[in-house]
Amino acid sequence: EKGGFDHFMLKEIHEQPKAITDTYRGRLLRQEAIIKMAGVEDNMKKFLNADRIIIVACGTSWHAGLVAEYIFEDLARVPVEVEYASEFRYRNPIITEKDVLIAISQSGETADTLAAIKLAKSKGAFVFGVCNVVGSSIARETHAGAYTHAGPEIGVASTKAFTTQITVLTLIALRLARAKGTISSSDFRHHLLELEMIPKKVEESLKSDAHIQKISEIYKDVSNFLYLGRGYNFPVALEGALKLKEISYIHAEGYPAAEMKHGPIALIDENMPIVVIATKKGHYEKVVSNIQEIKSRKGKIIGIVTEGDTQVRELADHVIEVPETLESLSPLLTTIPLQLLSYHIAVMLGKNVDQPRNLAKSVTVE
Ligand code: F6R
Repeated sequence: EKGGFDHFMLKEIHEQPKAITDTYRGRLLRQEAIIKMAGVEDNMKKFLNADRIIIVACGTSWHAGLVAEYIFEDLARVPVEVEYASEFRYRNPIITEKDVLIAISQSGETADTLAAIKLAKSKGAFVFGVCNVVGSSIARETHAGAYTHAGPEIGVASTKAFTTQITVLTLIALRLARAKGTISSSDFRHHLLELEMIPKKVEESLKSDAHIQKISEIYKDVSNFLYLGRGYNFPVALEGALKLKEISYIHAEGYPAAEMKHGPIALIDENMPIVVIATKKGHYEKVVSNIQEIKSRKGKIIGIVTEGDTQVRELADHVIEVPETLESLSPLLTTIPLQLLSYHIAVMLGKNVDQPRNLAKSVTVE
């Protein structure tokens, strides 16, 4: 049932090329240069009239929401707020009929997310669900939605659900951008082409596995990790840190790279490994200077870089390459090595990777 893999988590990491393909199959029609999503199409007016989009979710799904915030604002030019469902629902939020709320949930059963949906509905907002589990409570409670089609995710630590959520949200953002005219037709086509190439590039990224195992061996006994990224890859840094915490029980924090100098830089010494996402497009030069700051404080640098990168390679202790893609799609690739890094460290430490202590696959308590 684990398909020859030692753990469900590893199996699910490796399933991502297929899961992402399944997610855009029948929706991304490159020949026709269109995106077809019934749940969006049928409610286009609601989306186009929305003053803003509010995204609610928890945990990893919240990280996918953060990535979506960048994509929606960048491509579809609609203001987005991303909220922890548990905070949103309890703070008397301002919600009107002109709001569109997107709830993201792998399980479709997360109690806080479900409650946030009910609250938004009671205020007249249009609620759209992005779920993986078909027929789940959230899928039923929302007005419309789009499934991720990732297939069952058994490992408690979310992997393929995350990348397929980003895929669905990217499709929605592109569809809205097209409808609003905030993206040119050539740019739109370019995005479709690049998105279609992502599964192959995820496959490529997975080939770093042996290299990542060696890096894991070196750092498995540390007690702290930092993860840094900027722009589209800031949420990926948060997700990388969460994955490590969850399954290896090593303390890890994700930060926007530029925030480092406002506090966390004090943590850096020769014992601190820092994973820095430094892909070519997207503030590359700025990230390189962040890396220099770390280096001068003797931090150990693990750079996630674009294939063929030389600048970061010169500075970093280790680099892990991912293929080049559009900046907006880069989270789908940069996430992969971070999943593998946390997986291997946890296995080396003898932790129960698929069922980490204190965690449940669906959190139905508030
Ligand atoms: C992290 C993880 C959790 C979930 C969170 C939300 O690996 O699995 O953080 O992402 O509990 O769950 P869903 O997406 O089912 O609402």
